[in-house]
Amino acid sequence: MAQLIDGKAIAAQVRAEVKAEVAAWVAAGHRAPHLAVILVGDNPASASYVRGKTQAAAEVGIASETLHFDTHLTEAELLAEIERLNADESVDGILVQLPLPAHINPSRILHAIRPEKDVDGFHPVNAGRLLLGEPGFVPATPAGILELLRRSGIETAGKHAVVVGRSNIVGRPLAVLLLQRGIDATVTVCHSRTSNLAALTQQADILIAAIGQPRYITADMVRDGAVVIDVGINRVEDPAHPRGYRLVGDVDFEAVSQKAGWITPVPGGVGPMTIALLLRNTLYAAQQRYTYTYKARPL
Ligand code: GUN
Repeated sequence: MAQLIDGKAIAAQVRAEVKAEVAAWVAAGHRAPHLAVILVGDNPASASYVRGKTQAAAEVGIASETLHFDTHLTEAELLAEIERLNADESVDGILVQLPLPAHINPSRILHAIRPEKDVDGFHPVNAGRLLLGEPGFVPATPAGILELLRRSGIETAGKHAVVVGRSNIVGRPLAVLLLQRGIDATVTVCHSRTSNLAALTQQADILIAAIGQPRYITADMVRDGAVVIDVGINRVEDPAHPRGYRLVGDVDFEAVSQKAGWITPVPGGVGPMTIALLLRNTLYAAQQRYTYTYKARPL
């Protein structure tokens, strides 16, 4: 039976550290860090994530505002809004919740955010810095996964990490991070076109599932004792549940937890870490924006 990696508890630790650092920052005479969140349309999952982020911000002393726009907002209008936030010296971090409606090109929007306010780490400058191993904003979910591993005492050096998924938000940046000096994993990246996926996942010391398909990783795909990190948050219908749906990961938790050495639950695994690391990025944005030197920090 696998040991549970308690993302809720570890995220609470990270949030407490951020809260203490925000308090010290404010005590030193600075204003509270300020996060602007843009939400377009009424995707219920997106609205729920945004609420989670702004509530968590308030709890650590970060000021936040949610700019909620109708789904018909044009790309030009959204770009104008970002320009306004870029120029507003009282705004430290700008986050555009994804996905955007189909008529808006997400790249054009993400490229418009000033890199020093890009707390999601999705701007090409930050993505490039990450690829080069330079300090910059690291996307919150991959950074959160590394914190889970580190704070659980899981060794990464020399281990074979298999990342399933190649999204710009999780799979790709995570693969790059795992390769970094100091982390030193050997990395395989798999995706929807990978041949014989199970043969690769079975070789993983650390298996990361970031596919977006409910219970895609089954027990036969996992090596005995492996560390299994489940990034998926999938809504599946459940008439027995008051909401009519329930959240499941990309991993078949029931079966895989019998075989793995360590495993993250859904909910309560990676999800809370994403929020905690976003808060940390926002604090860093406030502290570093004045110089835009991206003080090197341990991740
Ligand atoms: N949609 C899914 N994950 C994320 C994320 O980390 N940031 C933003 N902005 N949108 C998302």
